[in-house]
Amino acid sequence: MERTLVLIKPDGVKRRLVGRIFQRFEEKGLRIAALKLMNVSRPMAEEHYSVHRDKPFFRSLVDYITSGPVVAAVLEGSNAIAVVRKMCGATDGSKAEPGTIRGDFSMGIEKNIIHASDSHEAYEHEYRIFFRDEEILNYECGD
Ligand code: CMP
Repeated sequence: MERTLVLIKPDGVKRRLVGRIFQRFEEKGLRIAALKLMNVSRPMAEEHYSVHRDKPFFRSLVDYITSGPVVAAVLEGSNAIAVVRKMCGATDGSKAEPGTIRGDFSMGIEKNIIHASDSHEAYEHEYRIFFRDEEILNYECGD
C-alpha cells in the first residue's frame, strides 16, 4: 500500500468539481485516508512548492494556491502515487490527454485543478504541511 497527497486547487473548488474528481478516485479503488477543506497560508504554500522557489512562476503560484479554499486529501492504494498522477494527466491542461482530470476539466498550466505528489519523498514532505499524523485514518474498506 502506498499513500499520496492530493490538493483540489482553488479553481477546482470554485468550479464545484470536488465530488466528480473524488468519484473518479473512489471508483478506481483508491481509499480516502484523510480529507479536509481548508485555506492555505502563504508560509504553507511556500513550503509546499519550495522545489519551485527559483522558478519565474513561483510567486504567481503561491498567490493562486492561497486565493481560495483547497481540498486536501491523502489517498491510499497499490502504486497510489503513479496511479493518481496518471489520472491527473499532464501538468498543462491544454496538453493533457482526454480522460484525465486535467485533460477533461482544464486548459491551464497554472490553474490546472489538481496537485498530486510525484514521488514518495514528495509525499513525505507534502502531507505534513496539510495533516497531522493522527488525521490519517486506517480502516477497512471491505474490498
Ligand atoms: P502542480 O502539480 O501543483 O506542481 C507545480 C505547479 O506549478 C503545477 O502544478 C502548476 O500549477 C504550476 N506550473 C508548472 N509549470 C508552470 C508554468 N510554466 N507556468 C506557470 N505555472 C506552472
